[in-house]
Amino acid sequence: MVRILVPGEEAVESENIGHDGTVARTPGGGVSRPIPGLWLGDVPTLPHIASGKVREIYEIDEDRLLFVATDRISAYDVILPQPIPDKGRVLTGVSRFFFDLLDVPNHLLSTDVSSVDGLGDDEIPHLSGRAMIVRRVEVIPVECVVRGYLYGSSWREYRDGGGPTTEHLPDGLRMADKLPEPIFTPATKAVSGHDENITEAQTRQRLGDDLYEDLRQRSIEVYLSASDHAAARGVILADTKFEFGTTADGEVILIDEVLTPDSSRYWPADRWAPGNEIPSYDKQFVREWLDQTGWDRTPPAPDLPADVISGTRDRYIEAYEKITDLSFDDYLDR
Ligand SMILES: Nc1ncnc2c1ncn2[C@@H]1O[C@H](COP(=O)(O)OP(=O)(O)OP(=O)(O)O)[C@@H](O)[C@H]1O
Ligand SMILES: [Mg+2]
Repeated sequence: MVRILVPGEEAVESENIGHDGTVARTPGGGVSRPIPGLWLGDVPTLPHIASGKVREIYEIDEDRLLFVATDRISAYDVILPQPIPDKGRVLTGVSRFFFDLLDVPNHLLSTDVSSVDGLGDDEIPHLSGRAMIVRRVEVIPVECVVRGYLYGSSWREYRDGGGPTTEHLPDGLRMADKLPEPIFTPATKAVSGHDENITEAQTRQRLGDDLYEDLRQRSIEVYLSASDHAAARGVILADTKFEFGTTADGEVILIDEVLTPDSSRYWPADRWAPGNEIPSYDKQFVREWLDQTGWDRTPPAPDLPADVISGTRDRYIEAYEKITDLSFDDYLDR
């Protein structure tokens, strides 16, 4: 969750992200020494309105935002001390690819940062490929998760006797099993910690029945198209998360990043074996390295060695190329 800053407030005081790599979820916590290189979305010429773990958001005008994906990487909700070069470009490239492919109302207006008035010539190369000009919305505060396979927090709920995400599932499933049909398992952005899965009844209560049905239907449709697309490339889209927002004129549109390795669990289809853990095209590589260091998952995270940084970068790029069928070098050249 990001905190919207009031004018004049410094981003570094955000309660969500400390640029030392801490993600403090409680007011006043977590910020200390800045680490050079992590503030990779700096755009001094536009008003800065919010900081997330990965993104920096700037105001272009009343209706439009500049949505910048930095190279920051978080694991276990802690921002790691080193960025992964070009990760923000991978996330923006994949989102943009799917916004173009999917025929659904969304927030992307353009990725041509040279069209933004007020940006300096020195800022444009730094932003190109990693920034999107988006419609500004009021964010609907429910994370629209769709799952086609039983894994992650849903598997843990199921194994431990059931929870919000498993209320419509049959008995007898194994970890990583394909579900009879994709399920909509919303979560809330908890102010104090990890996202929290919520039941259908709780979601209906928050959204109202009409908006609930609308978001469920849209989320599942987008999941199905994207998973067909991925399957044709030897990739399983196990689950993904969408966000939606309401424009000033009341239209509900798809926002945020879409179908990226950060918001989705992608598996190489030939590694899928139900009953087992499946490697994914995401942060698993860096998480495994962190785990073997004995780190206790509280800030600060250990410094990443060069080979872990480059191995992580390679995996993000591999994900881009697998999913889009395009060369990442060509993306960088555009
Ligand atoms: N078109 C939009 N207008 C306004 N806010 C948006 C729009 N699209 C996305 N957002 C918000 O911008 C933020 C993106 O930042 P980032 O992904 O870095 O956050 P985060 O650390 O993942 O935290 P979280 O996603 O849980 O808020 C999200 O809070 C998202 O809800
Ligand atoms: Mg996010």
